[in-house]
Amino acid sequence: MISPCYFVIFGATGDLAVSKLLPALYYLSREGRLPENLAFLGVSRRDWNNNQWQAFMYEKLPQRLGKEYNDDDFHVFVNRFSYTQVIHDHPEHYVNLKQELGKPREGVCANVVFYLAISPSDFSVVVSQLDAAGLSGRLLGNRIVLEKPFGHDLASARELNQHLHSHFEEEQIYRIDHYLGKETVQNLLVFRFANSLVEPIWNRNYIDHVQITVAESKGIGSRAGYFDNTGALRDVLQNHMMQLLSVVAMEPPAQLDDDALRDEKVKVLRSIRPVPSDAVSHHAVRAQYEAGDGAVAYQDEPGVAKNSMTETYVAAKFYVDNWRWSGVPFYLRTGKRMAQDLTIVSLRLKQPPLKLFREAPMEEIEPNWIVLSIQPDESMHIELQAKEPGLDMSTRTLQLHASFRDDNQRQLGAYEALLMDVIEGDHSLFIRFDEVEWSWKVVDPILRQFSLEQEFIQSYRAGSWGPEEASQLFDSSDQSWRNHI
Ligand code: BG6
Repeated sequence: MISPCYFVIFGATGDLAVSKLLPALYYLSREGRLPENLAFLGVSRRDWNNNQWQAFMYEKLPQRLGKEYNDDDFHVFVNRFSYTQVIHDHPEHYVNLKQELGKPREGVCANVVFYLAISPSDFSVVVSQLDAAGLSGRLLGNRIVLEKPFGHDLASARELNQHLHSHFEEEQIYRIDHYLGKETVQNLLVFRFANSLVEPIWNRNYIDHVQITVAESKGIGSRAGYFDNTGALRDVLQNHMMQLLSVVAMEPPAQLDDDALRDEKVKVLRSIRPVPSDAVSHHAVRAQYEAGDGAVAYQDEPGVAKNSMTETYVAAKFYVDNWRWSGVPFYLRTGKRMAQDLTIVSLRLKQPPLKLFREAPMEEIEPNWIVLSIQPDESMHIELQAKEPGLDMSTRTLQLHASFRDDNQRQLGAYEALLMDVIEGDHSLFIRFDEVEWSWKVVDPILRQFSLEQEFIQSYRAGSWGPEEASQLFDSSDQSWRNHI
């Protein structure tokens, strides 16, 4: 596939661009990974010229880049950019955009990437306007990248997809879920499928249950406008966590190409038992944080409605009804203003079948755990039982812990990998629409019930591990949330 010659960022002054996209592009530019002929165009609603845009980049980015900032590299990076104003529903602005993209360039200029780092509610209008201005570039192979959430429920996701397909071909579309760009998430595949030690026990015969936690200590920052209309279920569980679950539960793909991997993930999502609408409260708990640890309550955050019933925490239990996982509960939870930043996948193994070590009663023997820590610690952790040194035949827990990366290796950002994939035209780490569709099918019954029972929302103290009620999801009294690696 021919590399693009323009990379256009809609929402270039927004949070996502400043915190993730521009830093990732800076690293790629500094490391000489970008095609030489690739130029960038910042697009936002602000009526700015190139100088004002470049001044914005100088104001916002160096502090974000910290010790990775280098004057010369940054200068080169900034000079690859120009800027143009686009108010999303102003057709004349797309005419200007087209003119900008049509300016004579050195070398062969083939196609354009449009990255929509904008509010999902504006996706449709931008897509139509790009096409109306003759910018969809079906023949040239222009690409369009959309951030999650893709739709706000199953019906709206289908509508958006149909709309998208009336203006762009599927091979031009990149639905991004940045969790798939995290190396530690990709490592889940390697851990599972490159180790013959692991795969034989990765099933219902040995695994008691699986937990996936995405806990964040931060609140919603300046994103109230987006988050208050979205909530934790749509913001993180429907996409990032469903992707994690699929990667943990999938069968080995025939090969690592675009479709084989995604086919296997879809099979998992299709196997998830639908949550019965009359028993949602046994399968999902939602909550909102109250003041605590120096943080204000969610409803007192700037921009949040005073009577907002949006959940900042959600926990849910799912069953993957297939040969490998039948009967094994998957417990998922995510929340803002939790006790610490912790994204982990934990698998608890079943107890051995026989009470051999009678001096240590079975109930006191800790089960084995496999914990894959995605962030901030990037590590693998296995807990086993060993003999307690001494005369007694008692047991103790032994912890095998390995970091994923050597100390001196820079942690790659998820966006670096994904942006390179867009430039190189590789879809394998992007979401196919059937994945989106099946994830919404899993989540929709919960969403529906939440919206019918507006008043039933639990609370938790900011800086805690979430509401007590989340423990009621466990199938067995010996199961509890694991709050550490
Ligand atoms: C985003 C959500 O998709 O993921 C945010 O919109 C969340 O609310 C973020 O904070 C988490 O990403 P990461 O990479 O920091 O775990």
